[in-house]
Amino acid sequence: MIACYGLTGGIGSGKSTVAKLFESKGARIVDTDVISHDLTAANGLALPAIRQEFGDTFIGQDGALDRDRMRTLVFSDRAALHRLQAILHPMILEQAKSCANTPTGAPYTLVVVPLLFESGRYRDWLSGVIVVDCPEELQIARTLQRSALDEPTVRAIMAQQLDRGSRLRQADETILNDGSLMQLEHRVCEMHKRLAGC
Ligand SMILES: Nc1ncnc2c1ncn2[C@@H]1O[C@H](COP(=O)(O)OP(=O)(O)OP(=O)(O)O)[C@@H](O)[C@H]1O
Ligand SMILES: [Mg+2]
Repeated sequence: MIACYGLTGGIGSGKSTVAKLFESKGARIVDTDVISHDLTAANGLALPAIRQEFGDTFIGQDGALDRDRMRTLVFSDRAALHRLQAILHPMILEQAKSCANTPTGAPYTLVVVPLLFESGRYRDWLSGVIVVDCPEELQIARTLQRSALDEPTVRAIMAQQLDRGSRLRQADETILNDGSLMQLEHRVCEMHKRLAGC
């Protein structure tokens, strides 16, 4: 099997941007956000368990998870968050492994996992973890510019995530995303050459 690396980083650090750049170089990307979304879409594999645990009111008219309602619940109720994670996390991991095991012409796979270190489930099967890193003020500015969240909410989300120093200490590789997109592409290109062995 080809090598499989994790890609993680705090909210707004640039994970999706970096993943797209690696993909453009030839890496295979497995995105756990996409897997999570598919599991909770209409007819998604996680819906029967979610319906049983939380009831019909959390399933929308379209048959998919009512994400707004669930987000509101789990933001204020940690027990509910853990109940949801107990359903979703093992399924996401299983699907990520299954995607990473399918044959590919790519030289390696990158598995994008926002809360990789926090979840504690991924280290064992990954060859290494790449952390996308930038100063916290830049994380906040990028997230505010891209989403409808306000600054206190972004700071509250960051407080629930691992702090920058702890994340960096656990990294096998780091991509610093504190400059222009051109600089970022250059850094990705250099790392890709190393990971692909070319
Ligand atoms: N080097 C950069 N220069 C300018 N804008 C950037 C740079 N890196 C990322 N961005 C922008 O910052 C925003 C956040 O980046 P991105 O979506 O890649 O982060 P993320 O870590 O995937 O966020 P999330 O945790 O919400 O999934 C996006 O609008 C992206 O276009
Ligand atoms: Mg993203």
